[in-house]
Amino acid sequence: MAKIAIVFHSAYGHTRKQAEAVLAGASLVPGATAELIAIDADGHITDDQWATLGAADAIIFGSPTYMGGPSWQFKKFADASSKPWFGQAWKDKIGAGFTNSASMNGDKFSTIQYMITLAMQHSMVWIGTGLMPSNTKAATRNDINYVAGFSGALAQSPSDSSPDEGPVPGDLETAKQFATRVAAYAVKTLG
Ligand SMILES: Cc1cc2nc3c(=O)[nH]c(=O)nc-3n(C[C@H](O)[C@H](O)[C@H](O)COP(=O)(O)O)c2cc1C
Repeated sequence: MAKIAIVFHSAYGHTRKQAEAVLAGASLVPGATAELIAIDADGHITDDQWATLGAADAIIFGSPTYMGGPSWQFKKFADASSKPWFGQAWKDKIGAGFTNSASMNGDKFSTIQYMITLAMQHSMVWIGTGLMPSNTKAATRNDINYVAGFSGALAQSPSDSSPDEGPVPGDLETAKQFATRVAAYAVKTLG
């Protein structure tokens, strides 16, 4: 079985909804198992969760975009990953990422770019969405990859939305299809 770990932070619950869609998408793939690891409000995960990351074949990073980058809790987790980094323990694992924010753009790419850099420091192999953007005149807001992320899955939650209302359904479906791709690739390349 290919093991997929989804490690994410969410302060208000919107990015958690995106993470749950990622979990659903990864879990669709025969031969893959997926699990969520929530970074807590202090930026911590447990020793068992670090062990889960160490045993994973693919790690999918998730964070809201705050002030044009990942949340400080995600960054604290990333800094703590310097421990496995010293021995390059995550080398050759698949890496991928997702982010959610209030604005359509909102500098989400800066967050994804940071996750790519983190993955490269760990010598991981990055995989993007593999999803074409919905950008024609006929496109509507809930079409797949309307926010048009290639490097990572992007979602938008209106600033006055509850987690039940945002991310919007099309962005959750985009997250799901992205994760299916990551998990299928992990299964394909396992062993
Ligand atoms: C401190 C802070 C900074 C934020 N910065 C941005 C930003 O740079 N771009 C943006 O589009 N939204 C920004 N937002 C909005 C959040 O990204 C948005 O509310 C998101 O859905 C929160 O995710 P969460 O519920 O998982 O914490 C910011 C929100 C907070 C609280």
